[in-house]
Amino acid sequence: MAENNNKEFTEGNILWKNVATVSSFDKKEQQVFNVNKNEILIAKVGDKFKAMQSRCPHAGLSMLGSQINSEKDLIFCKWHNTSFCYKDGKVDKWVDVPPYQKKLVKVLALFSKKLKQMVEMPATPIEIFKIQVIEKNVWVGIEVAN
Ligand code: FES
Repeated sequence: MAENNNKEFTEGNILWKNVATVSSFDKKEQQVFNVNKNEILIAKVGDKFKAMQSRCPHAGLSMLGSQINSEKDLIFCKWHNTSFCYKDGKVDKWVDVPPYQKKLVKVLALFSKKLKQMVEMPATPIEIFKIQVIEKNVWVGIEVAN
């Protein structure tokens, strides 16, 4: 472990950043932080913390405020209900919207290249980041090149 200045330290190829106090999650259970060019969503789930990419791979929208099911370890993107496992990032169910909405988007996609790409996009997992609590602070670990 390299020098710990209470803001960051390195451990092998992991750069650990102190992002917030544990108590700051009492009022806001989900928060977004920019760490080394990564926009990271940290969610308090029970008494544990989970860190994942903030923007959903489907349409690049922020997942801040999305519902969490702690029994199934899933986060449901608030936009089109894709569910991801917040432990390994895998997709549980990709774009879970009512059939009429799917049909409507398919029609609209005929006129929009961007929408077409979204409709045809394969299920894509989210990135999960390391996280730990040290002395009442929440630390996120980012892999860096040696
Ligand atoms: S933006 Fe998340 S499911 Fe569409």
